[in-house]
Amino acid sequence: MSEPGTPAPLAVGDLVEVEVGPVAHGGHCVARHQGRVVFVRHTLPGERVVAQVTEAREGQRFVRADVVEVVTASPRRVQAPCPYAAPGLCGGCDFQHADLAYQRELKSAVVHEQFSRLAGMDVDVAVEALPGDDRGLGWRTRVEFAVDESGRAGLRQHRSHEVVPLDTCLIAEPRLLATGVLGRHWSGERAVDVVAPSRGEAVVVPVPESSSTSEVPVVTEHVAGQRFSGDFEVSARGFWQVHPAAPAVFVDTVLGWLEPRAGETALDLYAGVGLFGAALAEAVGESGRVVAVESDAAATRAAEGNLAAYPWSLVVTARVDDAFGVPRPARKGPAQRRATRQRKLRRHPLLPPGADVVVLDPPRTGAGRDVVRQVVALRPRAVAYVACDPAALARDAAYFRDGGFTLRRLRALDAFPMTQHLECIALFEPGA
Ligand SMILES: C[S@@+](CC[C@H](N)C(=O)[O-])C[C@H]1O[C@@H](n2cnc3c(N)ncnc32)[C@H](O)[C@@H]1O
Repeated sequence: MSEPGTPAPLAVGDLVEVEVGPVAHGGHCVARHQGRVVFVRHTLPGERVVAQVTEAREGQRFVRADVVEVVTASPRRVQAPCPYAAPGLCGGCDFQHADLAYQRELKSAVVHEQFSRLAGMDVDVAVEALPGDDRGLGWRTRVEFAVDESGRAGLRQHRSHEVVPLDTCLIAEPRLLATGVLGRHWSGERAVDVVAPSRGEAVVVPVPESSSTSEVPVVTEHVAGQRFSGDFEVSARGFWQVHPAAPAVFVDTVLGWLEPRAGETALDLYAGVGLFGAALAEAVGESGRVVAVESDAAATRAAEGNLAAYPWSLVVTARVDDAFGVPRPARKGPAQRRATRQRKLRRHPLLPPGADVVVLDPPRTGAGRDVVRQVVALRPRAVAYVACDPAALARDAAYFRDGGFTLRRLRALDAFPMTQHLECIALFEPGA
């Protein structure tokens, strides 16, 4: 028996019947069982379901669970188009059981909730479909399939290393499946990457168990926006947006909001292969200046080629925090903390002392307080922040506000239909 007022203990495998509350960040909804918070997958707000506990950690105030029976279904529930998008199977998609418009409403609610909770900001945002995406299927142009012990390719279960072998993946671009990747045996490989670039044939890249020096092919991606168009060379294992409509929409939004002018200085932070850097370079022209900062050496090699037509641009291979001379985010362990203390924190000599416009496109962890402070110290007239995690963006939006900037525009784009993920683009400007 639990003490009065303390939530009931729950263990993995327990079944609970719950009324399902709102969607939460992470691809699940919130329910309560005898005072205990239960994050339930494969359900929707307003449903009554029986769920089985899948994770219950000592000291954690919540447990995770997955649906085993829908007692009362949401009117927005649909049959998942993919047979693998179900409890205990593939963890790649989170929302196939909701109609596509509702998936976007759920993601909008998550963005609103994250900004409210982490930044105290009330944002009004509706997640938009990307152009041409009316079914949410067949869009994913890059997939890293995992390989199981018997050499079959598949994707992992949710929060697990277990590989679910697949014979299809409905969100994958059809050219990617036409390579036959899911029908072949990949014994000896850890994973297999498949890319369907916008120019040329799909490419299959086996990823061996042990590190390999084998050459990774380079693919060409074409971006045809309204404000910018160009070609980019990208390693088949490097970073590029996975939705084919995303790069053009992101670049058009960023250019439309920043309105870079001839002669201005622009920074492209977390630059990848230079998507925003090239667009900024074209806009500021030869009397301007662009500095692109990216930590991955293969990406900066590609960026140098992609920006070669703009000799007024410069690519710096460095972590953004290192380039600004600020401490890296705290790492666990005394050795790592000592190494962090001992590192000399010096600003990169090629970083300009100020900038007119800045683009930030960090990984899921976001830019963080110290990088935001450094961006603010550049005294830019406008900052565009492209974010794949609304929680990190909301946290950093509060740092921008602390630095005297205001969130002027916010767009949320469904660049990952059927999954919980989305992309946000925010515009910050100095002043109230
Ligand atoms: C979301 S991607 C954006 C890439 C590029 N802006 C684009 O749109 O294609 C984030 C990039 O940041 C790089 N990155 C991750 N951590 C970094 C850091 N601390 N400093 C600099 N670059 C980093 C990754 O290698 C990756 O290329």
